[in-house]
Amino acid sequence: MKSMIDKYFPEMEIDVSWYSKKRTIGYSSGHTDLNSLDQLVKDCQKCDLYKTRKNTVFGDGDKNSDVMFIGEAPGREEDEAGKPFIGRAGKLLNEFLKSIGLNRESVYIVNTVKCRPPENRDPEISEINACSDYLDQQISIIEPKVLVLLGKIAANRFLNEDKPMSDLRLKKFFVEKYDIPAIVFYHPAYILRSPSQKKRVWDDLQFLHGILSPHVS
Ligand code: URA
Ligand code: SF4
Repeated sequence: MKSMIDKYFPEMEIDVSWYSKKRTIGYSSGHTDLNSLDQLVKDCQKCDLYKTRKNTVFGDGDKNSDVMFIGEAPGREEDEAGKPFIGRAGKLLNEFLKSIGLNRESVYIVNTVKCRPPENRDPEISEINACSDYLDQQISIIEPKVLVLLGKIAANRFLNEDKPMSDLRLKKFFVEKYDIPAIVFYHPAYILRSPSQKKRVWDDLQFLHGILSPHVS
């Protein structure tokens, strides 16, 4: 197949750059199932967050979903339970999903880093980088068709853009590394902290609904 594409398509002046891009998705380094990757994360000591965690928080939801939500880092309740988004922010996320006819069981939810930063501080760049291969591999295994980046930490990790939310929301991005479209949505913890932003969320939810509804049943 590849040799036919290499040979005939350029002759017909058809752009084949998509083909080579697709092939670069094989960035995973061997842990082809989620359970063995989860085990690897449980034993991980690649950054200092392992010293203070109670549990690693790998991911939750439908492993076959076309939609992956990506948060920041586990908080206290997530660290206790080993599951993402189960505290107050998680409950608000569930409400957001319900309001557009979705539920968390129909999507897959992960975090940018898998261990809780002490006192819920922002994860440091070095921690995000240390953890980044696990997230790459989760994406490689689950193969979502769209990423929903919750808040600025996840947005920066994927889009390399240190921009305010006002410049990131209501837009469709494309993450070349994975060949996947992505949108940026408010982090629910931010909405809890800034209730005055709540009135903006409705527009974002409609936008999210428009993008996600073809991908979830
Ligand atoms: N905030 C996050 O970003 N992730 C969680 O799992 C919980 C709160
Ligand atoms: Fe390992 Fe990620 Fe936990 Fe750091 S945050 S110890 S890299 S799993």
